Amino acid sequence: MHNASSPRAPGSVTLVDHPLVQHKLSLMRAADTSTSKFRRLMREVSLLLGYEATRDLALEMTEIVTPLEPARVPVLAGKKLCLVSILRAGNGILDGMLDLVPSARVGHIGIYREPRTLGAVEYYLKLPEDLAERDVILVDPMLATGNSAVAAISRLVELRARSIKFVCLVAAPEGIEQLHRVFPEVAIVTACVDRCLNEHGYILPGLGDAGDRLFGTK
Ligand code: URA
Repeated sequence: MHNASSPRAPGSVTLVDHPLVQHKLSLMRAADTSTSKFRRLMREVSLLLGYEATRDLALEMTEIVTPLEPARVPVLAGKKLCLVSILRAGNGILDGMLDLVPSARVGHIGIYREPRTLGAVEYYLKLPEDLAERDVILVDPMLATGNSAVAAISRLVELRARSIKFVCLVAAPEGIEQLHRVFPEVAIVTACVDRCLNEHGYILPGLGDAGDRLFGTK
């Protein structure tokens, strides 16, 4: 594991240890943080995680004219990035990332956890058609068992996404291990690696059910 300024190897975990990210995440963890505050914090943290996740996007040089003279300047190369949200909690991260890269394309993968087996069940899929020409950032706030992430990545691999990164707020060691066992080439960007999962597949200490806290459904 390395911090955000180290180079990324395949199968890496980048820990975004920026003080603002850590502070905001701590506020999100507190059980008495309101839904509206949780949602705002998720958006803010996601923008900062997105900043790190997009650090190695390719640039190309282009000619422009400044008010003073012509200049060669760097701009993002190739087709627009594709952000893919694992529904429904992934949408909380999506909002912050879109603040950062408003022209990104967006896909959604609906996956729920079968409560008894914790297995991943896909119920919805809508992605841009030309994934083979796009870098994908897959987002879900909690990397718990890793089953949903692996199911979503399998879809993206099947559709030949050019590259895939996974961004979450909190990761469990079990989830990191599972994701990298199946897809070592997928880099993980996270704000924190927590202690472990409980018997229901929730991350400890974690922040509870990210979807419920984001949408106020409990
Ligand atoms: N999903 C959540 O929302 N929270 C967890 O702790 C684990 C999975």
